[in-house]
Amino acid sequence: MEIQIFKTLQELNQSFTEWLQEILNNKESITIALSGGSTPKSLFNFWSDLPESEIDWNKIKFFWGDERCVPPSDAESNYKMTMDHLFNNINIPQENIFRIRGENNPSNEAKVYGDLLNQEIEVVNGVPTFDIIILGMGDDGHTASIFPHEIELWNSNYNCIVATHPETGQKRVSLTGKVINAAKNVAFLVTGENKADKIKEIIENPEESDKKYPAALVQPESDKLLWFLDEKAAGKLTGNS
Ligand code: 6PG
Repeated sequence: MEIQIFKTLQELNQSFTEWLQEILNNKESITIALSGGSTPKSLFNFWSDLPESEIDWNKIKFFWGDERCVPPSDAESNYKMTMDHLFNNINIPQENIFRIRGENNPSNEAKVYGDLLNQEIEVVNGVPTFDIIILGMGDDGHTASIFPHEIELWNSNYNCIVATHPETGQKRVSLTGKVINAAKNVAFLVTGENKADKIKEIIENPEESDKKYPAALVQPESDKLLWFLDEKAAGKLTGNS
């Protein structure tokens, strides 16, 4: 586990992009699963403002770690957020974008997307293996759309499952721990003071945390887990990790 802490989002986005380019420079093409919610907007805006040729988007196939079960035009859609903050602003071939169809029946879409992963990305020991999975973390310790009240979904044998938001009841399609922990590189992007308590618990007290918080169960077999934090989210870390 590597932890990088940044004073500003600009510095975090710059460092994350250099990390991505390092991986991209060493491969013909890569597969990335994106996180949703609001945190990635800053990174996507940063990528949108880069000079045209800075990142060869043709080399990247984009997927999602989770999606809300809403139409792609809905304000809640992670796909819509990514279109608005990134894809509408860069030259990315449509065939490189593999969205989870939030408008479809959730159980059916979880199966369809799980099968699509087996077709579209590298499969290692029977598990679809992303080059990079970007994850966010909720202030309740959820990640992707695996929430604490349904933490057993993390251990599903499926590639994707249907989850339920604990407050709104909104249905979500989410990758499971099997796929997340098979990724070659996993990067948490976590910013803001409201995440500081869980960041401290998960990083400084992993034994307790991995019983309660899905984000604590992110332990890729590759050992390539990076935390990109701003100072606010890292504000309660004491350096004992
Ligand atoms: C989603 C995300 C989810 C998100 C966290 C953090 O669909 O909401 O994939 O896992 O990363 O909830 O959300 P914020 O970035 O909005 O704090």
